[in-house]
Amino acid sequence: MIIERQDQLTDGALAVMEQTSDARLREIMVSLIRHLHGFVRDVRLTEAEFRDAAAILAELGQQTTDSHNEVVLMAGSLGVSSLVCLINNGDAGTTETSQSLLGPFWRLNSPKVENGGSIVRSDTPGPAVFVALRVVDRQSRPIAGAEVDIWHSSPVGLYENQDPDQAEMNLRGKFTTDEDGRIWFRSVKPAGYPIPTDGVVGRLLAAQGRHPFRPAHIHALVFKEGYKTLTSQVYADDDPHLETDVQFGVTQALVGRFERHDEPRAEADPPWYSLAYTFVMEPGEARLPRPPIR
Ligand SMILES: [Fe+2]
Repeated sequence: MIIERQDQLTDGALAVMEQTSDARLREIMVSLIRHLHGFVRDVRLTEAEFRDAAAILAELGQQTTDSHNEVVLMAGSLGVSSLVCLINNGDAGTTETSQSLLGPFWRLNSPKVENGGSIVRSDTPGPAVFVALRVVDRQSRPIAGAEVDIWHSSPVGLYENQDPDQAEMNLRGKFTTDEDGRIWFRSVKPAGYPIPTDGVVGRLLAAQGRHPFRPAHIHALVFKEGYKTLTSQVYADDDPHLETDVQFGVTQALVGRFERHDEPRAEADPPWYSLAYTFVMEPGEARLPRPPIR
């Protein structure tokens, strides 16, 4: 088309997108053009800002490596990752869901641990936490024989793969639910931690006066044939950043009560903590995600 006025441009671009043969790609591209052109008009994007935007997108790619994904970090920091999760789970976003984000630190082949065991594999100072988790279906019936992969950060906010002071696979373990859908284990209380701020995302947070912290959480990946593989995070209710998670991951359903105990317990010095939490699996495909790190 030969354009006579700027407002014709959107119609012209939409007409081209409409020629996309794959129906889903067509739907996505048509909507993308509508929103993108609408956004440019809405903020009256200047030429300098457009050049900056192109440079920023390129930087997101340049800052992405085998062990770090700045694009995913940005998507999380804009609330997009959480939105995608929530509209695709819990009856297409109409009910609560146990699903949450996988995050960048899940590893394949974490060691099997018996129920009642500990996932502390090297000296990790911090308060003990006794965790009791249950896996049920949407009718609250226990799911027995589900594999529950657990991983979390240390009391100083570092995963074992980030911390030379921790043993290989420290604070990681794979459990199997019993007849009542339960697993239970001992660990140390995780701490919240900052996301990396040395890239584009860090500049955005600084410009907006946002802190970079995620509230303390325990990750779980629950696998059982016949159910949609559950990726979850249980957030500590006593974390100061619970309501301001930089990645917008905290939903009401994912807040777990880390109960503090000051009474003595034979195998732990006070204060120690307990956490009881129930995951709900939805029907769907049992498929493990691709591990973000080795
Ligand atoms: Fe995490």
